[in-house]
Amino acid sequence: MIAIENLVVQFGGVRPIDRLTAQLAAPVSGLIGPNGAGKTTLLNVLSGFLRPIEGKVTLNGQALLELSPLQRVRAGLRRSFQTEQVVEDLTVAGNLAAIADHVLPARARLHAVSAALEFVRLVSVGARPGGSLNLFQRRLVELGKCVVGAPKLILLDEPAAGLSNEESGVLRELILRIPAEYGAQVLVIDHDVELIRAMCTETLVLDYGRMLALGPTDDVLASPDVRRAYLGEF
Ligand SMILES: Nc1ncnc2c1ncn2[C@@H]1O[C@H](COP(=O)(O)OP(=O)(O)OP(=O)(O)O)[C@@H](O)[C@H]1O
Ligand SMILES: [Mg+2]
Repeated sequence: MIAIENLVVQFGGVRPIDRLTAQLAAPVSGLIGPNGAGKTTLLNVLSGFLRPIEGKVTLNGQALLELSPLQRVRAGLRRSFQTEQVVEDLTVAGNLAAIADHVLPARARLHAVSAALEFVRLVSVGARPGGSLNLFQRRLVELGKCVVGAPKLILLDEPAAGLSNEESGVLRELILRIPAEYGAQVLVIDHDVELIRAMCTETLVLDYGRMLALGPTDDVLASPDVRRAYLGEF
């Protein structure tokens, strides 16, 4: 479970996260909100890329904010980026090994990389350079990196952005398997509310850095406040 308490992020006079308190416990939770609502900023705080000026975050009771990004990876935190971050000069397997090298003893790395490649269906391109992959394959590499080792919390920043419906369906099925197969909790940002509805039993809605709604996804998406914030987007 992720417990966020009184979190404040400030850049100059702007507060992209403004006194956010929320608890997320579902196997797959959604994080939605209009552009600039603070979604990526929240992921940056959880993964250690950004330091809040106030607040507390725990993952399954363990305080997170005191840990460096690498310590968080070792504690089971994984993330993907809104703009995919596949290393072009490394092979696909090498991209996954870059995580394994940090979190697993040498003898366990090869197997962990193979298992993750199999999970995301990239075994056949494992030896190809990252730079030769199409967008869907790159998004799968990002997901593969997230399941290497023993993930406890996987943060996905618009993992389906730019994908076709069919590709996004494949990604959705893989994400839904993660809690049972890896024992990890997943938090997904996406603008496609139908994708969020299909994956996430609970959803947090941010607007101007504040919590607009949190609860079962269908209830949240039906709420007039949430629909107003989206101005007819769905
Ligand atoms: N490093 C930064 N310095 C100053 N302002 C920033 C910085 N990073 C983000 N912001 C501002 O914080 C606010 C929240 O941005 P954030 O990227 O978290 O939004 P988002 O909800 O992920 O939006 P999108 O759906 O467009 O990805 C925005 O107003 C943004 O301009
Ligand atoms: Mg964002």
